Amino acid sequence: MRIAMIGTGYVGLVSGTCLADFGHHVTCVDKDEAKIEGLLQGRMPIWEPGLEALVKSNVDRRRLEFTTDLGTALKGAEAVFIAVGTPSRRGDGHADLSYVYAAVEELAGLLEKPIVVVTKSTVPVGTGDKIAELLKEKGAPEGVSVASNPEFLREGAAIADFKHPDRILVGAEDELARTALAEIYRPLFLNRAPMLFTSRRTAELTKYAANAFLATKISFINEMADLCEAVGADVQDLARGIGLDNRIGPKFLHAGPGYGGSCFPKDTLALLRTADEASVKQRIVSTVVEVNDLRKKAMADRVVAAMGGNVQGRRIGVLGLTFKPNTDDMRDAPSIPLIEGLQAAGANVVAFDPVGREQAEPLLSNVEFADSAEGAADGAEAVVIVTEWDEFRALDLHDLAARMSGNVLIDLRNIYHRGEAEGAGFVYHGVGRVKA
Ligand SMILES: NC(=O)c1ccc[n+]([C@@H]2O[C@H](COP(=O)([O-])OP(=O)(O)OC[C@H]3O[C@@H](n4cnc5c(N)ncnc54)[C@H](O)[C@@H]3O)[C@@H](O)[C@H]2O)c1
Repeated sequence: MRIAMIGTGYVGLVSGTCLADFGHHVTCVDKDEAKIEGLLQGRMPIWEPGLEALVKSNVDRRRLEFTTDLGTALKGAEAVFIAVGTPSRRGDGHADLSYVYAAVEELAGLLEKPIVVVTKSTVPVGTGDKIAELLKEKGAPEGVSVASNPEFLREGAAIADFKHPDRILVGAEDELARTALAEIYRPLFLNRAPMLFTSRRTAELTKYAANAFLATKISFINEMADLCEAVGADVQDLARGIGLDNRIGPKFLHAGPGYGGSCFPKDTLALLRTADEASVKQRIVSTVVEVNDLRKKAMADRVVAAMGGNVQGRRIGVLGLTFKPNTDDMRDAPSIPLIEGLQAAGANVVAFDPVGREQAEPLLSNVEFADSAEGAADGAEAVVIVTEWDEFRALDLHDLAARMSGNVLIDLRNIYHRGEAEGAGFVYHGVGRVKA
């Protein structure tokens, strides 16, 4: 099948490439000329494991193309996906749908025959209805169908997630859309990935419900971590103790500095706006957002306290800047309020991230960037592990301690055991773990 993919970011590029890898012919289109120019030369605009090789092999097989021109991408296409950004609108937390509607308007003027328009972007419930109206209003041909196909991939494991999804969710109102999406995902269907057909509105809302639930698990375990610290219990063991229960499950039960990234913060807020408009209270999600905001802000104080209450003029090494490992994404990363809080308290911050520096630099000021974890530790009085990159899991702690002028290790991801850190001479501070 010929497919056009509007938006060549984390979701559009990964989805388009994987669909091409299934054997479809995919043309990815983006307004960002530099991005498309780079892709045409084989340069990836994002850091995602395995992506470069998969793009190359599908470009070589002539199944994957890139362009800035939507008209070109639409030639012969039977389906067009919309995978543009839907960030939080400044001020009110609503999903900003301006990119979606701009893409739809452009599309309406170019369509010559009925096609299936599939929204992959995360959009509030009812957006599909508005897209259908807008297409009609702007002169799209009769018979164009609008479906919702939310994406659940995780950055850092995006290709595996797309190719082996827990489920494929399709919200469709007609047979044309259901048949087209069943055909598009047939290779996964054959691998027995469950394909769920729902109404368009249900699919749109399900995506928000999924993210809100995962955010809830994170905030829950973070509050449990606080309680563990206060009463002398260990949140790692507690998480295992509840996570082994199949009704609960072990994932998203890692205490840490609060969730960030391109999805949870904006999607929880957008869900609350939807609920406001429907005059329905969502007390749980509303509390989750509050708990997470406070948690992120509290991380700087946690470091200051670990250093005796005063960080004025003191050098602190920060390991990891991206919101999670295996991505260069800095959107809403907990490292940002942490570093800003430390700087406000007078600390000098030196940071290292294995791939995130380019994205991080414009977002942070007065930060010294080191070329390695060891470089960030050189001369520092404390080191703070903020993102659990694999390469931070096997640091030579003796060497790290020897490079520092102090001996405080603040492990916001609990990747070390107290014993091994103390054995290397550190004063160790994990999250939600038994003290001393
Ligand atoms: N990043 C994730 O992990 C993830 C996971 C699941 C769902 N989502 C959702 O997918 C959507 C896309 O997210 P993302 O992280 O890929 O965003 P992104 O910002 O990385 O990419 C969006 C791309 O769309 C392009 N674009 C915007 N308007 C355009 C237009 N009219 N025509 C062509 N290109 C246009 C931009 O230039 C950009 O390259 C969002 O709704 C997001 O919530 C993201």
